[in-house]
Amino acid sequence: MNIRTFLAERVRAAMTQAGIPAEFNPIVAPAKKAGFGDYQANGAMGAAKAMKKPPRDIASSIVEHLELDGVADKIDIAGPGFINIHLAPQWIATQLHNVSNDAQLGIQKTNASQTVVVDYSSPNLAKEMHVGHLRSTIIGDSVVRVLAYLGHNVVRQNHVGDWGTQFGMLIAELEDQLGTGERPELALQDLEVFYQQAKKHFDDSEDFANRARDYVVQLQSGNEQVLKLWQEFRRVSLLHADDIYKKLGVTLSEKDIFGESEYNNDLANVVTELKDLGLAAENDGAIVSFLDEITNKNGDPSPVIIQKKDGGYLYATTDLAALRYRANTLKADRALYFTDARQALHMNQVFTLARKAKFVPESFTPEHHPFGTMLGKDNKPFKTRTGGTVKLAELLDEAIVRARQEVEKKNPDLNDKTMQEVAQKVGIGAVKYADLCKTRTNDYVFDWDNMLKFEGNTGPYMQYAYTRVASIFSKAEIDRASFNSDIVITTPQEHQLALKLLHFSEVVEQIAQEVYPHILCHYLYEVASAFSTFYEACPILKDGIDTQTKNSRLQLCKGVAQTLKTGLDLLGIDVMEKM
Ligand code: ARG
Repeated sequence: MNIRTFLAERVRAAMTQAGIPAEFNPIVAPAKKAGFGDYQANGAMGAAKAMKKPPRDIASSIVEHLELDGVADKIDIAGPGFINIHLAPQWIATQLHNVSNDAQLGIQKTNASQTVVVDYSSPNLAKEMHVGHLRSTIIGDSVVRVLAYLGHNVVRQNHVGDWGTQFGMLIAELEDQLGTGERPELALQDLEVFYQQAKKHFDDSEDFANRARDYVVQLQSGNEQVLKLWQEFRRVSLLHADDIYKKLGVTLSEKDIFGESEYNNDLANVVTELKDLGLAAENDGAIVSFLDEITNKNGDPSPVIIQKKDGGYLYATTDLAALRYRANTLKADRALYFTDARQALHMNQVFTLARKAKFVPESFTPEHHPFGTMLGKDNKPFKTRTGGTVKLAELLDEAIVRARQEVEKKNPDLNDKTMQEVAQKVGIGAVKYADLCKTRTNDYVFDWDNMLKFEGNTGPYMQYAYTRVASIFSKAEIDRASFNSDIVITTPQEHQLALKLLHFSEVVEQIAQEVYPHILCHYLYEVASAFSTFYEACPILKDGIDTQTKNSRLQLCKGVAQTLKTGLDLLGIDVMEKM
């Protein structure tokens, strides 16, 4: 159990004994300011107000009943009735010692494990993956790691766009190019170029356009020849995505791909059922559902088209089918969607309509976790200099090249192989961390110089902080993994550092709930800062330091290394022992 929950339970028990009704919460949180103890319980004020009693009296009677022998060495009341809890150094020391010997670092597996579908990355296969998919991939993968760490059953769903009318045109183009003897991998080497060629032929040639339209119909009715070409296109496009996943080190693999085409057989049912339920009807030839729950500023209900005039289905239709598959077949308790903020209305419509139609049980929660746009230094959406889509594979290669330049400056003595490995981890880590450390819902500026700095809240700094701790052990020629010592806290820096390390489980649990990975980044940055302060004030390997103090401090260092390593791993970022 984390300290916060533990203290909250104790305070709640004291409140009960003090005769405070159970509806009032203890409101326990880490203290905001130095001098106000380590944790605060702020529930007295609310209870006092409702009970019409002086808040300080309520606070005193809580403190009187508060059983924290051996846990706290001082409890005082400040201001109108804040209860400040000063934890006993020896208690903190024991807790941290237990945590560093626990395989999960004190983060308990949940006893209420849920099945959580996470829909992330989900590129459209007709085109090159773009920066929006980069954000979805990085953020989604971090959340997946956190949920799995806490013991949830995570089902990754890479909802790739592998269906739709544009595939008719792409298949016709592929057929032509293969007809000239081209291999699929080569023809589709650059999806952006290929798409433009197909589009041009479609616009310029009546014959081509007719064939493309016919292929859409053939595809839907399962013509083998056409399906084969479609599969070929899909296969090569997925190889492009997989290249990026490998470079990024994300946990997505082939078995997580469950694209739009998987729902084809259910789309007609979705439409029929919505019509039968009276939730959708013909409107101007199309089948539309109007949602009173979502209105525009004039109060008009929001229209959701589920079938076009020509009989074709839409993005929303597929997402309705996907929702019920996730809730009913995958038996998910939650489904998290990572797409950019511009899809908020779409997600809201689909979730609302699925609920109204009872496609999903009440207990199931679909959640859209939107993110902002990645901008260039000019504050406009990130593009190449000529205004095109930035190829993600090239962006990641550039990250590694740039990281290598920085690492060479810092440590020119590394051999070539190590240098390349370090550059790889630093470059990819920098790109990921730069994204994850920003509040997800905001836009952010993609800036190479900032993200590759070795100081401040950056990926390289966090990896560097880890190597600093690692180097203490290598200097002392001590095996960190097997090292184990009691902790004795005597200085305020040790106290602060130990306490910070003990917050880890609270932070990880918060990410699972709120789905904001930047909270974890900020926490790890605070750990690294607390370590720096400690390291300056508390010598470890210096002559004259007694063995007990030295070992205790080494154990604290071990805690820092473990926390940084595990924390960065939850963000999908690798560490190294030296850089
Ligand atoms: N393919 C979509 C896009 O590129 C994202 C899909 C997100 N997932 C979903 N179930 N709608 O915008």
